[in-house]
Amino acid sequence: MSIWNRHKIFETNSAILLIGVLIVISIGGLVEIAPLFYLKSTIETVDGMRPYSPLELAGRNIYVREGCYNCHSQQIRPLRDEVERYGHYSLAAESMYDRPFQWGSKRTGPDLARLGGRYSDAWHKEHLDDPRRAVPESIMPSYPQLGKSPLEAQEIAQDMRVQAALGVPYTPEMIEKAIADLRTQATTDGDDQDALLARYPKAQARDFDGDPSRLTEADALIAYLQMLGTLVDFKLYDNKANIR
Ligand code: HEC
Repeated sequence: MSIWNRHKIFETNSAILLIGVLIVISIGGLVEIAPLFYLKSTIETVDGMRPYSPLELAGRNIYVREGCYNCHSQQIRPLRDEVERYGHYSLAAESMYDRPFQWGSKRTGPDLARLGGRYSDAWHKEHLDDPRRAVPESIMPSYPQLGKSPLEAQEIAQDMRVQAALGVPYTPEMIEKAIADLRTQATTDGDDQDALLARYPKAQARDFDGDPSRLTEADALIAYLQMLGTLVDFKLYDNKANIR
């Protein structure tokens, strides 16, 4: 009997075929999954990544609450057309502090992973108030209420505590100073800028919504949008010698 005929046992008996399938899948599963238990981390560390500042985190909460992820992804794939349009492809480390992550799979609007610094704060404010004023053919909904609603920031320390429990490295000091840091980042004055920058390097501190007299949800959301994709310095990483 040639080896090919022996295969007939599997092809004519579904119970034996099923057992064979299970054995093969188990071997494949072990090879794929078992090594992951021996790795400390599957994410390469990358210079520049830090947890969100309290103001950015508050803005991110608004982004999630308003469902912006239903139309916007935050993940640039390593494909030529995406890299040419949006910039360097996303690294795993860039969403390591995103809980829940915002990769998304729906792009009714453009990807936002590298949005930071692309437009002015005033552009964002106008675009959120009424996207048609900035982009006449836009089908994005208007969010004029964000510029009017005061930012409810009382719970931000609690939010950070939850994020810390999930593994985001917020220190007790960061949590204790949360509200103060949030206010410092949303104003141009304040002597605490240095402390803010020590805790959150590259944090951009200013009035974001064009109304310095109030702290609104638009302040927080625009602070978040302006930092997206700006933490990692890709000039360092395009030079392969610097990859750790
Ligand atoms: C119904 C789908 C939809 C939703 C929901 C939506 N957007 Fe958009 N967004 C779009 C479309 C379409 C565009 C492209 C046209 C334009 O610029 O307005 C866009 C563009 C943008 C841009 C400009 C991006 C660029 O690179 O030019 C930003 C920033 C933006 N949206 C932010 C947001 C935020 C923040 C939210 C949530 C508060 C949101 N969007 C919700 C559809 C949406």
